[in-house]
Amino acid sequence: MTDTIDRGAANQAGAIVNKNAYAEAQDFLPLKAIDHVEFWVGNAKQSAHYFRALWGFTPVAFAGLETGVRDRASYVMRRNDITFVLTGALSPDGEIAEHVHRHGDGVKDIAFLVDDAMTSFAETTKRGARPAIEPIELDGGEDGILRRSAVYTYGEVRHSFIDRKDYHGVFAPGYRKVKKPAAAATGMSLLEIDHCVGNVGLGDMNTYVDYYRDVFGFAQLIHYDDKVIHTDYSALMSKVMTNGNGRVKFPINEPATGKKKSQIQEFLDYYLDAGTQHVALRTDDIVGTVRRLRGLGIEFLGMPHAYYEQLGARVGDVGVPIETLEELGIEADRDEEGYLLQIFTRPIQDRPTFFFEIIERHGSRGFGVGNFKALFEAIEIEQARRGNL
Ligand code: FE2
Repeated sequence: MTDTIDRGAANQAGAIVNKNAYAEAQDFLPLKAIDHVEFWVGNAKQSAHYFRALWGFTPVAFAGLETGVRDRASYVMRRNDITFVLTGALSPDGEIAEHVHRHGDGVKDIAFLVDDAMTSFAETTKRGARPAIEPIELDGGEDGILRRSAVYTYGEVRHSFIDRKDYHGVFAPGYRKVKKPAAAATGMSLLEIDHCVGNVGLGDMNTYVDYYRDVFGFAQLIHYDDKVIHTDYSALMSKVMTNGNGRVKFPINEPATGKKKSQIQEFLDYYLDAGTQHVALRTDDIVGTVRRLRGLGIEFLGMPHAYYEQLGARVGDVGVPIETLEELGIEADRDEEGYLLQIFTRPIQDRPTFFFEIIERHGSRGFGVGNFKALFEAIEIEQARRGNL
């Protein structure tokens, strides 16, 4: 395989890029897109307000006692091609309450849109996936039939396979449409899910790289080793897996040993398991979006002034004055294909676990490796404030 890894294409930070990844990926399922991401949370109703009032998501569907669902409340929130489902338990018993008790709020399911939920389940379990939900047909009456199945990935995270071709309802059987949704915040651009990052335990990264290759037919797009991603104190390793159409990209991180605790280890210590570290949302106006979100009270990681002093020389013209990037805390990176602008929120729940990234791409299909060192130093300042470095 070494002939497909173009070491000459490694950028100055030393990432190894596989330019044949999309061709190598075998889309036997195939996965058409990410259908939705489901979070299991302590209070789904309040989480729904958070996503509506601060992130501009519209509530489109609801399931709960009023729709005949006895054990949970779920709110389906949508903005452009991004769909989040927020689910909370209605009693202290059962998998949702236990999950939230152990992990806090977090991602439970990264669901794929597929042509055939039955075949997707059969093909992935045949290749070694651990079953989570056997294929089922959910009868939506006049709305038709939605077919679903699911397998596990790292930790307790699932990948559902959703087949909507015979279903015409709002989200899924058991959900009802929200007829008069409260107004969502406006003024931000959030278009689609760009990538979802998994944090796994020490020594487990390659297990899950193999898992996505063998079970889902993904190919490895990029490898960042701990020589690339380290500061004076901590380190991590990361490999990026992609499906064939490039619409599903999963970087997998594991902690590496440094003088102090890796940020990945801090996540694992508080989530108490492997889990989804962040979801990146693609925008076409990061400046306007971050300004708006900051105005609404969303907290982002700040970058030191020294980062911006060197930025112009490193990335050249990125269409936004460096002062504006610094004012808003936005980072920039450039590779041979183009550039990207990105920013990371602070963790969005009490535990220092899950956060969001916002990313604006101009040709670059990378993940901002040139920012990793400065970014991790910024994260370490916050880790130290939490007494976890
Ligand atoms: Fe990311």
